[in-house]
Amino acid sequence: MEAIEVLQHVAQETAACTKCALHHSRKKAVPGAGPADAQIMFIGEGPGFHENEQGLPFVGAAGKFLDELLAGIGLRREQVYITNVVKCRPPGNRDPQTEELTACDPYLERQIQAINPKVIVTLGRFSMAKFLPHAKISAAHGRPVNVKGRLVVPFFHPAAALHQPSLRPAVEADFAKLPDLIRQAADAPEVPPAALSPEDNEEPKQLSLF
Ligand code: URA
Ligand code: SF4
Repeated sequence: MEAIEVLQHVAQETAACTKCALHHSRKKAVPGAGPADAQIMFIGEGPGFHENEQGLPFVGAAGKFLDELLAGIGLRREQVYITNVVKCRPPGNRDPQTEELTACDPYLERQIQAINPKVIVTLGRFSMAKFLPHAKISAAHGRPVNVKGRLVVPFFHPAAALHQPSLRPAVEADFAKLPDLIRQAADAPEVPPAALSPEDNEEPKQLSLF
């Protein structure tokens, strides 16, 4: 199946999904947005108020800041794929719960397999935990890890810097590293289409390249 078809299927399925409790408060599912052949994939936490209204990821305050951070490194959001670990809004923007993350993960896996991005940027601790279950974001942010030949880079969530302005320089410094990482990943060999699963990555290794 073509990548774009997989993405369309995921969008249709999430719109009607009842696999976890988050479907009760869903107005619109937010499957993700961006080109099916994106080289870079950003994975956030979950839809907020505005995303739930519009069915699009990162369209509220955090999204505006994400756009600014992308612009700062010469990227437009149309060039990257943006999604979340849960596709429906947690009520009141509470943290997604383990059973919700587990129920929703197959959609994200299908998106990753279809798009096969060279670089995955995780935004915040919930998407980081998918790949690096034992990492602490304060130590791990901005440090690329090779997960089955694919570069995974944990970043702070942009919303964290909005709530805590002292984090802003760290968030900006993380984004400033991206252009080089993208260039280096683009020169790396093709990633075999193997499923990424956290169990395989208990002991992540730093790429010597970086
Ligand atoms: N925060 C997220 O993590 N994801 C969104 O889509 C919007 C805000
Ligand atoms: Fe289904 Fe994911 Fe929405 Fe839960 S969050 S209802 S698993 S699409």
